Amino acid sequence: MPKPLLAGNWKLHCLSAEAAALAGEIAKGCEDLQDRQVMVAPTFTSLAAVAGVLRGSKVALGAQDVYWEDTGAFTGEVSAPMLVDAGCSFVIVGHSERREYFEETDYTVAKKIAASYRSGLSQILCVGETLDQREAGETMKVIEKQLRHGIVELPAPGLESLVVAYEPVWAIGTGRTATPEQAEEVHARLREILCTLMDPDKADAVRILYGGSVKPDNVDELMACPNVNGALVGGASLKPDDFLRIVHYEES
Ligand code: PGA
Repeated sequence: MPKPLLAGNWKLHCLSAEAAALAGEIAKGCEDLQDRQVMVAPTFTSLAAVAGVLRGSKVALGAQDVYWEDTGAFTGEVSAPMLVDAGCSFVIVGHSERREYFEETDYTVAKKIAASYRSGLSQILCVGETLDQREAGETMKVIEKQLRHGIVELPAPGLESLVVAYEPVWAIGTGRTATPEQAEEVHARLREILCTLMDPDKADAVRILYGGSVKPDNVDELMACPNVNGALVGGASLKPDDFLRIVHYEES
């Protein structure tokens, strides 16, 4: 069983002092953790402040996006070596908000995943269907395409540091969570696909996170699903009590 990962995506929230304070509360509440890993992803401008607070704690630092070239004339971008330099060990790639609002495509996702791997970051590749796609019965087709296309540039050993996050778009920020059955059905399919790409023992060790309105009152049942190895949490990760309850989900 892979070590579960509970990850907070702070999106476009918190000035750096607020982010540092939030990180401090989370780090304090995670001191007792043994069997699970925690990560928080603030905005780029808060990375340095949060890195300082998290140093020596049990909470890892992640970024919400990355550019695929290491350096060059790419105004406004931040590269994988820069994220490592800022203290990151994770990066979220292909979040549905980036796909929807910022023209992220499977092509750019693949480049970002490969660049992150080259710099030693663990990549969290987000996949997930829209409500229309679900209602049209296209969920499995959509997530398979996003997964397979997202890793086309990743060398085979890179699959071992990959984290996949299944985030149904209709569940993000809506308060509408996938049922444990819906989540498990997709996670099991993602696992099957991973098994076609790598040694099945290694595929079993890849963490597949669920994301989409994860809250203190639904995390236990989601984490009880055999193929759910963690959570990617948006709104609730900004509330220390809620996020710490999620991190301390109860094993059934
Ligand atoms: P949410 O966001 O928990 O607020 O639904 C999840 C995500 O976007 O990763």
